[in-house]
Amino acid sequence: MSIVTENLSYTYMPGTPFERAAIRDINLRIEDGEFVGIIGHTGSGKSTLIQHFNGLLKPTAGRVLINDMDTTGKDLKELRRLVGIVFQYPEHQLFEETVYKDIAFGLRRRNITEEEAREEILKAVEVVGLSEDILEKSPFELSGGQKRRVAIAGVLVMKPSILILDEPTAGLDPRGRDEIFGFITRIHKTMGITVILVSHSMEDIARLVDRVIVMNDGTIEMDGRIEEVFADIDRLEGIGLSAPQVAYLMKKLKSIFPGINDRVYTVPAARDELLKHLKGGYES
Ligand SMILES: Nc1ncnc2c1ncn2[C@@H]1O[C@H](COP(=O)(O)OP(=O)(O)OP(=O)(O)O)[C@@H](O)[C@H]1O
Ligand SMILES: [Mg+2]
Repeated sequence: MSIVTENLSYTYMPGTPFERAAIRDINLRIEDGEFVGIIGHTGSGKSTLIQHFNGLLKPTAGRVLINDMDTTGKDLKELRRLVGIVFQYPEHQLFEETVYKDIAFGLRRRNITEEEAREEILKAVEVVGLSEDILEKSPFELSGGQKRRVAIAGVLVMKPSILILDEPTAGLDPRGRDEIFGFITRIHKTMGITVILVSHSMEDIARLVDRVIVMNDGTIEMDGRIEEVFADIDRLEGIGLSAPQVAYLMKKLKSIFPGINDRVYTVPAARDELLKHLKGGYES
């Protein structure tokens, strides 16, 4: 499903001393099946923006269209199902006595039998890489990474057409991060749904997404392919961000070996580029 915003603005607590224009005049278009990253410093408006995509927040001005349907239209329930959002620290929203009940929560209002629900829940649990025996446990017995995956399964079980993840791996160790990004990438590839990833990690963004939207003070500062956006290190630094660490290393190496292509932003790509360059050097 596609997402379009037209002159979208949102102000928290308008008309009070706490009034805060969180996003201002945002125009963007995300096509069906894209994998898009959103980066930006703290308070730049990332979470505010994505909460407009399932109607959780209503525009102060402008509008949001999901597959040409205005989010202020009537069928909010269907919109919430189609656009699944995994919030920052989603495990804080786990509250049922078993994992099964937690994942089943969103399914309650749907017209499906207990059997069908169970089948869907088992599928979702498998997708996020958990084993079935976790279902009867209390969410509070689980590790941080497991809780996070249960929360994501609770969104996936609704079979969203758009999956939005707000910092899904914050606070997890590298292994937990890799596991979560592993299945998110698989979901995007196999189910062909639109995926939006909000992250503070330039490394994760560089290796996962095709396109990145850079937010700054409530507006879109840059929007383009990874190679385009990360090539402009000065502009990123100007708004308190950085390129992936490996980009700085490659830049330095290029000053010594001018033949190197420094427009690589992941470690595997840097390794390939260096091997290519070194081999070329020995052969000539
Ligand atoms: N519920 C709220 N009430 C009032 N102001 C808010 C609220 N939520 C966010 N804001 C303000 O709106 C602005 C944008 O916040 P938002 O949470 O969208 O930023 P963010 O890019 O997601 O930040 P972070 O990287 O810290 O998650 C900030 O100035 C923030 O203080
Ligand atoms: Mg946020």
